[in-house]
Amino acid sequence: MRHLLNPLDFSVEETYELLDLASDIEKNPEKYSHVCAGKKLATLFYEPSTRTRLSFEAAMLNLGGSVLGFSSADSSSAAKGESVSDTVRVISCYADIIAMRHNKEGAPLVASHHATIPVINAGDGGHQHPTQTLTDLLTIRSLKGRLDTLTIGLCGDLKFGRTVHSLIEAMIRYPHVKFVLISPQELRVPSYIREDVLEAHNIPYEEVDNLDLAMPKLDILYMTRVQKERFFNEEDYIRLKDSYILDKKKMELAKADMFVLHPLPRVNEISTEVDADPRAAYFRQAQYGVYVRMALIMTLLGVKKPC
Ligand code: NCD
Repeated sequence: MRHLLNPLDFSVEETYELLDLASDIEKNPEKYSHVCAGKKLATLFYEPSTRTRLSFEAAMLNLGGSVLGFSSADSSSAAKGESVSDTVRVISCYADIIAMRHNKEGAPLVASHHATIPVINAGDGGHQHPTQTLTDLLTIRSLKGRLDTLTIGLCGDLKFGRTVHSLIEAMIRYPHVKFVLISPQELRVPSYIREDVLEAHNIPYEEVDNLDLAMPKLDILYMTRVQKERFFNEEDYIRLKDSYILDKKKMELAKADMFVLHPLPRVNEISTEVDADPRAAYFRQAQYGVYVRMALIMTLLGVKKPC
């Protein structure tokens, strides 16, 4: 039995296979509409979510399966003090696969030790978000035609943004990828990403605070919101929340074939005037999230690709 807890749980080759399956699903959705008939996905969401939970549910429904679950800790027995390990033992009797989001880093890993069905990490605290990364990889490959030889700018809250941590870990496996890390000093990537991931693998990167100067170099600009819920102090959040606002004027500095990604939700960091720019890819990215989660559910359940 396999889980997905970290983006590196799939090898480069397995990741390509998954992305190929997702692209085939995009082209031939009707072929896949019954492959998970009789199977159930449980979404255990202890933290708020719109896209991740609903795209998981849409993915399972598109495959002909069904879904059950809860969307906040308050509406589950966690509110009565039940542990994650007990909850997943029980859910293993009700469903075939679990997607779990939790505010505590490592909670899905703990769940995987007690569940008898596959567990997918749908975001754990400020740590990792591997299914957003699969979504990002599918989006980048679909738009640029490759995952190698790219200069990727990551902008915003690189400290608490789990999507950033997972994307960096996944992208260093492709040749000739460079990073421009654009953030205020206080929101730079955690030292484990800088030292154990980037420096340990000799990956070229620079840390800067000026988005305008970085713009012309980028093939991908990955914008993120400042993660309000992970700040200890509201004053710091208010001071940092509008550090970067991508607008039409900044887009003029970018290459004609650069794409803007954002895991969403957006707060202020991308002005709505950018949405009409053909290089704004964040809503397409949300659509790719459904295809990739369909491919992931099939893979972890061992469902064969139909002919
Ligand atoms: C992200 C998350 O939850 O980490 N959202 C998502 O899953 N698409 C990004 C965020 O909340 O800022």
